[in-house]
Amino acid sequence: MKIFVTGGAGYIGSHVVKALGSKGHEILVYDNLSTGHLWAVLYGRLIQGDLSDAAFLEDTIAAFQPEAVIHFAASIQVEESVREPLKYYRNNVANTLNLLEAMNHCGICNLIYSSTAAVYGIPETIPVSEIAPLCPINPYGVSKAMVESILKDLAKSGSFSYIALRYFNVAGADPEGLIGQAYAEATHLITRSLKTAKGEYDRLSIYGTDYPTPDGSCIRDYIHVNDLADAHVAALEHLMAGNGSEIMNCGYGHGFSVKEVVAAAKHVTGIDFTVVETGHRAGDPPALVANSSRLRNKTGWTPRYDDLELIIRTAWEWEKRLSQMATSRK
Ligand code: UFG
Repeated sequence: MKIFVTGGAGYIGSHVVKALGSKGHEILVYDNLSTGHLWAVLYGRLIQGDLSDAAFLEDTIAAFQPEAVIHFAASIQVEESVREPLKYYRNNVANTLNLLEAMNHCGICNLIYSSTAAVYGIPETIPVSEIAPLCPINPYGVSKAMVESILKDLAKSGSFSYIALRYFNVAGADPEGLIGQAYAEATHLITRSLKTAKGEYDRLSIYGTDYPTPDGSCIRDYIHVNDLADAHVAALEHLMAGNGSEIMNCGYGHGFSVKEVVAAAKHVTGIDFTVVETGHRAGDPPALVANSSRLRNKTGWTPRYDDLELIIRTAWEWEKRLSQMATSRK
């Protein structure tokens, strides 16, 4: 199948491109390389382009004539979205409209969309299921919920079909060692912990220990990036089989607190890095854990890496490789 992948040079996108490419699909990645990397695209071709360039985007899609689009390209940091909301509405909403219009003009009507658990805000029930109300508490979550509304309306208006995958906390790296998370600034908990263990930061801050959780720190559902990649393959197959539009949570269904993750990172690395407890980070809900029975039951998805230490170990191997790559460039 011909698949057009926005943001395919990024962390999650590159793992999905690998999963699809290894199954023989023909892939065209469209990425502005603002946070992605050329080396991360292991299959298919890459065109460097920005979603804000509507004419170039449409010309590229028209020339490739994909059967489906997977849309990763977006701004993704909760705290940054609180500081710079317009960036999130521009990148995540306005640019997605450019993509949807280009698809519409080219007659492409199948989309897998990267949504987020942040659309739920502070869920009343944990694990949270897809039918829970959407009450995002930060501009990142609002921007993703807005696009979900647009997709719903678009699907009602004609032959357009989509699956929105609501990601929980994606972590880890491909065990084959060629791709992993490589942002200029590490903000995610597991990456930040491992970079602190490596000595790139002098301490790890735990943002809040007075949340209404058993140990007072926030709880998240950490999913290995390869399991998330498999979820995309399964969702795409489900969509292309004509099953209609759907929204699916992507997580394991159990969570770990920040303190538990930090302890696991120390155990995996064998390094007792410095940890300090500080105030809350803006926009953080106390707990986010997925009910992922819809994804499992409808697509047959079965996770392969549901083990926090295994996830951290793959991320740690990747961090060591990043250090080697940096040394060899000197
Ligand atoms: N945290 C720390 N110290 C750090 C970094 C994070 O205590 O140095 C805490 C955060 O406060 C939060 C938890 O660790 O409680 C997880 O934070 P991350 O930054 O790793 O991830 P988020 O939960 O903020 O967000 C991630 C994705 C979002 C997605 C969300 C869904 O970045 O895109 O998971 O659960 F929406």
